[in-house]
Amino acid sequence: MTKIIVLQVALFLGVIGNAFCQGEANDIPKIVKKDGRNALFVDGKPFQIFGGQAHNSSAWPGMMPQLWTAIEQMHANTLEVPIYWEQIEARQGKFDFSLIDTLLVQSRQHNIRLVLLWFATWKNGSNHYMPEWMKRDAVKYPNITGIKGQPVDSPSPHIKATMEADIKAFTAVMRYLKKADTQHTVIMVQVENEAGAWGSERDYSPLAQKLFEEPVPAELLKPEVLKALNVPVVTAGTWQKVFGERADEYFQAWWVASFVGKVAAAGKYEYPLPMYVNAALRDPLINPMANMYESGGPTDNVIPIWKAAAPAIDLLAPDIYLDGNERVLKVIELYDRKDNPLFVPEAALIPNNTKYLYDVIARGGIGFSPFGIDDNGRGAKAEGIAIHLEPFAQEYAMFEPMMRELAQWSFEGKIKAAVEPEDHSEQAIDLGAWQAIVSFGGERGNKTPANVQPIGKVMIVQLDENRFVIIGTRCHITFKPIGNNIGKAWQYLKVEEGHYENWVFKQLRILNGDETDWGGPYFGDKPILLQVSLITR
Ligand code: DGJ
Repeated sequence: MTKIIVLQVALFLGVIGNAFCQGEANDIPKIVKKDGRNALFVDGKPFQIFGGQAHNSSAWPGMMPQLWTAIEQMHANTLEVPIYWEQIEARQGKFDFSLIDTLLVQSRQHNIRLVLLWFATWKNGSNHYMPEWMKRDAVKYPNITGIKGQPVDSPSPHIKATMEADIKAFTAVMRYLKKADTQHTVIMVQVENEAGAWGSERDYSPLAQKLFEEPVPAELLKPEVLKALNVPVVTAGTWQKVFGERADEYFQAWWVASFVGKVAAAGKYEYPLPMYVNAALRDPLINPMANMYESGGPTDNVIPIWKAAAPAIDLLAPDIYLDGNERVLKVIELYDRKDNPLFVPEAALIPNNTKYLYDVIARGGIGFSPFGIDDNGRGAKAEGIAIHLEPFAQEYAMFEPMMRELAQWSFEGKIKAAVEPEDHSEQAIDLGAWQAIVSFGGERGNKTPANVQPIGKVMIVQLDENRFVIIGTRCHITFKPIGNNIGKAWQYLKVEEGHYENWVFKQLRILNGDETDWGGPYFGDKPILLQVSLITR
């Protein structure tokens, strides 16, 4: 009798336990906001995307093996991969989800999450992924007309038929995904790809011209929006009257954002995964006019327009192909907003960009992904591909077993980072009672030449007042007592090298003697993780 009761209790608890675990695992991925910070929650906990993006034409079954090879070599946890409107709805109204099925099955086999990229009305500003039946009907689904009446290779954002067709296909995708992906292999969806127009600031067709003469929508006339757009005087009226020389680009941004926002909202109605839009950037330092960048996309200057026009979009994300610390760090700063979780869905796959990954994590960003990780059918040898992926692979290999820890620390604002500037100058990081001083270069700190490329970086997680986890490459670190500790003598209590696994630090060795006495611990070409305790005397 007693045995039976025990068994029943055990079974009951088992059911509760399972339900609890399943409840967590079944939580739909979502953006969570707390204290002005953002996180991507996957399976109910903060998740950090260590991603890699496929080349544009690699989401075909015959090409997928090379995708998985790259993802494995890279130690990535997420594949960003396109799904193509032209394939999904090759025949109008008939949907083929076989590529999505293949992606779901294979990514589960590889234990990898997916971010799906909806290549649809816009792909790099053009209509090239529209199905053939749309491309053949340029009257019903027209492109933009340029200022001199010339054809422009970019879909008009003012066409209801185009938007309705996109909405129909995207809702079918999201409806299907809800059914096919109850375990949430797909954690986020990118709506369109670099929407906007190259080659014309806006559409100048008669229809667009008529809309341009209409009053600016009330959503944009709110004082806070106008202020964010640098419009000093609040007026109502036409686009030209309210926005002057910026009227064309703001008009285009409003219409592209409204279109994409409606597609996203319709998709979310079926299945509310986090959704984002990626931006082909403009130079963030010189405030160029829209004839110098892709007009209408979520570039830094029109973020307030996108926020007002497309509330269903969770975040606007920069594709980073710019060079130089000043530009790149400025871009990261501009997209890191309380109302915009920071995410870099594309960056050039070059060693120098790994340092911006550190900056993004330290700012509480939800992920980072270099573009073009696979071989793209070029037949390169495995070693060649590995060399190509190496810079990110080394970082991801270090981060892989501690992804949840990093995501949690990042969400709690416990991480700070320093990246090597082009002039290789020393960087200081304030940590309450301590200041970390980071110098970049070879093994003997200032006595050896600086790094040839400015690739050094470090991130510091503050565990408590005197205890830190430090990860970095190509730099030395030392400390200075500040704040409450100012003027005090100090020393290392303990410097341990190791790694994190399931929230437990696993020690490889204690660093001491030459490894700490000459300018502080040194971080070489390959990232290492140190747990450092400091003490005053
Ligand atoms: C940015 C786009 O978003 C990608 O799809 C790809 O075309 C890259 N540019 C190529 O560099």
